[in-house]
Amino acid sequence: MPQTLLIHHIRRILTPPPAHQPLSGKAQGSLHTHDDAWLLIEDGRIVGSGSMSEPLPRAERRFDAEGGMVLPAFVDAHTHLVFAASREGEFVDRIRGLSYQEIARRGGGILNSALRLRQTSEEALFAQAMQRLEGLIRLGTGAIEIKSGYGLDTESELKMLRVIRRMKEAAPVPVRATFLGAHALPPEYRDDREGYLALIEREMLPRIADEGLADYMDVFCEKVAFSADETDRLLEAADRYGLRPRIHTNQFHSMGGIEVAVRHGAISVDHLEVVNDEEIRTLAASDTMATLLPSAPFFLNDPYPPARRLIEAGIPVVLASDYNPGSSPSGNMWLVWSLACIKMRMLPEEGLVAATLNAAHSLGLADHLGSIAPGKKAHLIVTRPAPSLAYLPYSFGENHVRAVLIGNQWYF
Ligand code: NIG
Ligand code: FE
Repeated sequence: MPQTLLIHHIRRILTPPPAHQPLSGKAQGSLHTHDDAWLLIEDGRIVGSGSMSEPLPRAERRFDAEGGMVLPAFVDAHTHLVFAASREGEFVDRIRGLSYQEIARRGGGILNSALRLRQTSEEALFAQAMQRLEGLIRLGTGAIEIKSGYGLDTESELKMLRVIRRMKEAAPVPVRATFLGAHALPPEYRDDREGYLALIEREMLPRIADEGLADYMDVFCEKVAFSADETDRLLEAADRYGLRPRIHTNQFHSMGGIEVAVRHGAISVDHLEVVNDEEIRTLAASDTMATLLPSAPFFLNDPYPPARRLIEAGIPVVLASDYNPGSSPSGNMWLVWSLACIKMRMLPEEGLVAATLNAAHSLGLADHLGSIAPGKKAHLIVTRPAPSLAYLPYSFGENHVRAVLIGNQWYF
């Protein structure tokens, strides 16, 4: 017997159209709406919708939306959810005047997280990360990408990726794994960059590929991390194992990362706080998407990515949280959406498409997630009553979630 669920008295269903490609340019802001509606779900999949003025279909379970809106759950396409400890000490150091990059050069930052992660068991990391994920689901996240990159030695990187694999099996939402061994140069290789690059190529990548532990490859292309040439070489190695890149680049400097990423057919370039016209042209001429992470420049008091210029150049934009202990200790996608509108002048519609359908495309999940359409998985947010779509990012800091549906399961 199929299990049916009817959500009724929905003020407005809001969704990107179920496009087979990421939406860009003018289409980045296109949404379908259905007012005064009901939505029928069968065995965790959307069957169809109708108007409250029509007779309501029968269903075993019913949920009264009480005038709330229904949106697709967020897809968070860039996080560092597996970590061992928070870093509020560095937060206070920055308040006192140190910069993120100075802290990194002093051996804090990512290296601080690596030290703690190496000392923490797989079991403990798994329990912590699952608890964080549960919190994010209650905030409306219905799929997530998680990176390694706090291990920085073979065993610890494998440990992180095994934690993510266990999360794939245990979590109620899809989880995608990205190998970010090239996140920082570990202290043991301080005077031997070549040694660490070779370790990634000759030991980490083959073992990760052998165990099928990663879906994607990431490199932090930045002055405090790896150069464009080093990124090029690592992406070449990843290519041999069939790992497509999605890379951290242009967070603090423009130094060739975008050009290298595009040349390697990257799915996405992430951050882009600092990006020049030529790089925008390179991206526009490629299939690589731009993933913007506005809670990182918010937290670090940095300039924001030029979202308008990217959208106007026809580049599909994704929004993600970058949840991590150093530059964005929050996975709240409502805040990300608000910052996108307030600080980057994205329209509310553009922000929702970026955080749902485009993000789902970037993770290869768009056949099942990212919009509300017959056949797609019912990963949905029911909001508290709200007068309009724009109200959601406008009233920043408010909790808009009344309930989150993941298939057959409600989260409150
Ligand atoms: O995306 N920029 C590099 N990686 C993370 C920060 C990691 C950390 O500080 O722990 C980011 O901002
Ligand atoms: Fe990141």
